[in-house]
Amino acid sequence: MTRVKFLTLALILVLTASFSQAAPASAAGFVSSASVRTLAFGGLLGDLLAFLSDLGGLISSLLGGESKDGNGGGAGPQLSSLPPSAIIVPLSGAGAVGRFFRVPDRYPGANYAKSRKVCPMYYIADQWVDYEVIDAGGGEKLERWGTVVLRRPDPQIIWPIGRETDEWLTAHAHYHRSSSGGGHWEYRRKLPEHWNIRYGELTFLIRPTNFKHTGLFPEQAVNWSWIMDKIRDAGRPVRLLNLFAYTGGATVAAASAGAEVVHVDAAKGMVQWAKENAALSGLADRPIRYITDDVFKFVQREQRRGRKYDAIVMDPPSYGRGPNGEMWKLETSLYPFLESCLPILSDEPLFVLINAYTTGLSPAVLNNLLKMTIGRKFGGTIRCGEIGLPITRSGLVLPCGILGRWEAS
Ligand SMILES: C[S@@+](CC[C@H](N)C(=O)[O-])C[C@H]1O[C@@H](n2cnc3c(N)ncnc32)[C@H](O)[C@@H]1O
Repeated sequence: MTRVKFLTLALILVLTASFSQAAPASAAGFVSSASVRTLAFGGLLGDLLAFLSDLGGLISSLLGGESKDGNGGGAGPQLSSLPPSAIIVPLSGAGAVGRFFRVPDRYPGANYAKSRKVCPMYYIADQWVDYEVIDAGGGEKLERWGTVVLRRPDPQIIWPIGRETDEWLTAHAHYHRSSSGGGHWEYRRKLPEHWNIRYGELTFLIRPTNFKHTGLFPEQAVNWSWIMDKIRDAGRPVRLLNLFAYTGGATVAAASAGAEVVHVDAAKGMVQWAKENAALSGLADRPIRYITDDVFKFVQREQRRGRKYDAIVMDPPSYGRGPNGEMWKLETSLYPFLESCLPILSDEPLFVLINAYTTGLSPAVLNNLLKMTIGRKFGGTIRCGEIGLPITRSGLVLPCGILGRWEAS
């Protein structure tokens, strides 16, 4: 690093002496476009510092110095593929992440500067009566689903079990992961094949599946409550599109609050389960359309038909497949997918909610994606954060993913 600093200083001196000339064109491919562009706009001191900072980053990377970008640049839209108004220019070395961004004032439409604040929140689903995380430790959680106690693995739980009480040992069923990837349930007490639990006015069918799931993500209750409040407070009819809709937690919440809902999922079995949840919640006669399709294909079809929605909710997986094998990969699919949702939002949309459970994805990523797509077109307010469930025995919080919410102002 000392050698890097020395070389950086030497180059700074040489370049400062000849700075009345333009920035070296040959370096433009490496030095971030910020410095190149701001130098062209005028030789303010701040621009000079930005340029020098970039140059330091360049030299450091050329000498194999430490990269500031822990993920090697990551996925996402290439700057060159974005319309000019979407370009964000990094102030520090090429590919730097986690630093402030400069958006030149004179850059048309680049209005992110006004809303640079990102303030992740913690959203805790603490209004459950029928569900509870009793305890968590040693890579597993002990949960109560109504009167049934299940013991399931959870990769977030890297702390030890405080005390392996009888409850841990006498859970109705224990899911064991196998080294080959799958797993199986070990039944210790007689368990109904399926049963119901309630969240306020909503009722859900719970059924342990071969792949560890129960058919419900209880932390999503924070989103259901928010969706219901937004729809009830809207004071107008709301058409909501639920994408990657799974067993329909958000569908029944929205329908219960009075929205017309279109529910889309690739898996026929999940769509059927969602219908059962709607019926159990007394919503069988509500205006809900169930579609088994690939979300990309469906949204493109809705674009062609000119159909519009006041609210969109999505819970994309890290990887997924449409009914005909269409590939979904969150890292590369989410940004273009959000862009494709823009034309199907009504003129005055109410909200857009993204939920995700992808390892390593920060809530600020959802904040950025929403800003660059929905926020750029409609203004509004964006909030992001982590979702969690309270753990009764320890008073700790179990992290369960992230969310990003866009709301009209
Ligand atoms: C993580 S789950 C959603 C959880 C659910 N929204 C909730 O909150 O309870 C992901 C769902 O996306 C669906 N899926 C995956 N790839 C898809 C695709 N390309 N098109 C439509 N649905 C897809 C899966 O069938 C699955 O039901």
